[in-house]
Amino acid sequence: MTAQTLILVGVAGAALLAALGAFAIAWRRSTGADNWRDAVGRETRKADRRQAVTIPTEEPPTVEAVEIPTEPEPVAATVAVAHEQRVVEVTPEESGVSRRRFFNRALAAAFGSYLAVLGVELLAFMWPKLQGGFGADVEAGTVADLLAATRTPDGGVIPAFIPEARAYVVPVNESTLSAQFAGKGVAAGGLMALYQKCVHLGCRVPWCATSQGFECPCHGSKYDYIGEYFGGPAPRNLDRFTVEVIDDRFVIHTGAIFQSPRAPVRSVSYPQGPSCIGALAAPEAQA
Ligand code: FES
Repeated sequence: MTAQTLILVGVAGAALLAALGAFAIAWRRSTGADNWRDAVGRETRKADRRQAVTIPTEEPPTVEAVEIPTEPEPVAATVAVAHEQRVVEVTPEESGVSRRRFFNRALAAAFGSYLAVLGVELLAFMWPKLQGGFGADVEAGTVADLLAATRTPDGGVIPAFIPEARAYVVPVNESTLSAQFAGKGVAAGGLMALYQKCVHLGCRVPWCATSQGFECPCHGSKYDYIGEYFGGPAPRNLDRFTVEVIDDRFVIHTGAIFQSPRAPVRSVSYPQGPSCIGALAAPEAQA
């Protein structure tokens, strides 16, 4: 996973946490407002009970009834004013944004941000395929040209390195290939595409013309010319891509990597000459 992917995943995680936090706060406030007891603390309610004032229940002094002249016009005016005060409505613009509305908007903004980050992350993931680089299908050339380029006049092998695919294209006799590659789509037109990365710790594995194999300078793993394990700390064969011949052109599907275990029996002979990095330690050379 690249550093860019890690950063994007981190940003996406932070946005998700922010969205969840905003949602939790908004939900708590919106549901808590329905019950005033939830909004008032227990200590506050206890203090209120302690300070409760007992209202004396003495009989109110009696007064003699006095007949007050009733004039209809002033009473009607008072009722009308009181009614008018109760029904006056205040627009949201006049009262400002309510707390619930504020949190709803915050929640929507957080969720929108999260979706935006997801969109960016998806675009970053798709970018290699859109650009046609590593991760997409890479056209390496015509089969005839590659077959000619990967054989030396004396019958030796010289891999063709395809930088865009991060792959070595090598010739292969499909009829003598190890059974573990049969039907896996890793050979086509007499060619294979090996991933350049060592399966031990990821160093790029250079070609050694004298031994006719790949030899990793980092910790000494060795592979024959079709990437089968020979020795060293590598746990398996070199990885390879699925390939296809389309209209006589060799296409490498760099988004489809095939892994295989250490070769019990190699398909080609190795080494065919001196090593470029020296001999392996005894136990590993016997692997
Ligand atoms: S990275 Fe190649 S042998 Fe360790």
